[in-house]
Amino acid sequence: MSITAIDHVVSPHWDLRDLAVPQREALLTRLEAGDVLCFDALPLDVLAPLGWLLDARWADPRRKNISLDPTTGAVAGVLDDDERARTAVAALLADYGQRARQLIDALAPGYGKQMRAAAASLRLLPVEGRETSWRKDDSRLHVDAFPSRPNQGERILRVFRNVNPQGVPRVWRVGEPFADVARRFQPRVPRYSAAQARWLRRLRVTKALRSAYDHIMLSLHDQMKADLAYQRDCPQATVPFPAGATWVCFSDQTAHAAMSGQFMLEQTLHPALAVLHQPEQAPLAVLERLWRTRLT
Ligand code: SIN
Ligand code: FE
Repeated sequence: MSITAIDHVVSPHWDLRDLAVPQREALLTRLEAGDVLCFDALPLDVLAPLGWLLDARWADPRRKNISLDPTTGAVAGVLDDDERARTAVAALLADYGQRARQLIDALAPGYGKQMRAAAASLRLLPVEGRETSWRKDDSRLHVDAFPSRPNQGERILRVFRNVNPQGVPRVWRVGEPFADVARRFQPRVPRYSAAQARWLRRLRVTKALRSAYDHIMLSLHDQMKADLAYQRDCPQATVPFPAGATWVCFSDQTAHAAMSGQFMLEQTLHPALAVLHQPEQAPLAVLERLWRTRLT
């Protein structure tokens, strides 16, 4: 078995503004190719006055995380909807969301206004020991795909920050390149049914019509997680992200698994396919080449 993933983690130092254009573009090229970029020295003092929020007692155990909807400003997932915690979380996540966007604006100025901000989240519960079904188990390598939210190929770009106050790293596994994942599991992906997609929409299981692309991405997500031999034996590397580190990846493309750690901020961004520098590397393009047909 060859480990390929280790050089998929690129670790530049802040400040991105100090980078010459070719260096910056080299980072963006790697990001769009599926690498994880880790910024180990971003001076983001996001949390100094809000350290009291870093306590698992604010987290509703029935939910995966606390989140802020950027369009409505609504916060979800705070236990008992504690007013003081909810207000502080809203301020923290709004601030983090701005910084995350600044980081991506610096790295990929071309994304600009064609990048939509989705939810930001605060993850207070330890990764270890969470009981879930295999499908929801993010300690298994997977690419992100959401059953109820088809996205027709729009990208999922995530900015993570380990805010652990005790210096505990967040440990991930990072897997093989997306094209290898897709080739490997293609024979196991069931045929897409447009009729079934319409039913799922009608029954409101999905918020939009599940395209063939969404169907394949979900299937890859599930097949990867369900295959324990793959989880054990596929090319992969274990990557500790130190407390204070900020890392970025296209999570619809980079095979990833969260193994341990506690206290993390995350912002999800959706750059349009049209503004990518290497659209041919996007999962939609990779899958359309393999399936030899349009998928949206
Ligand atoms: C995931 O996106 O699958 C989990 C990331 C994390 O909790 O570190
Ligand atoms: Fe994930």
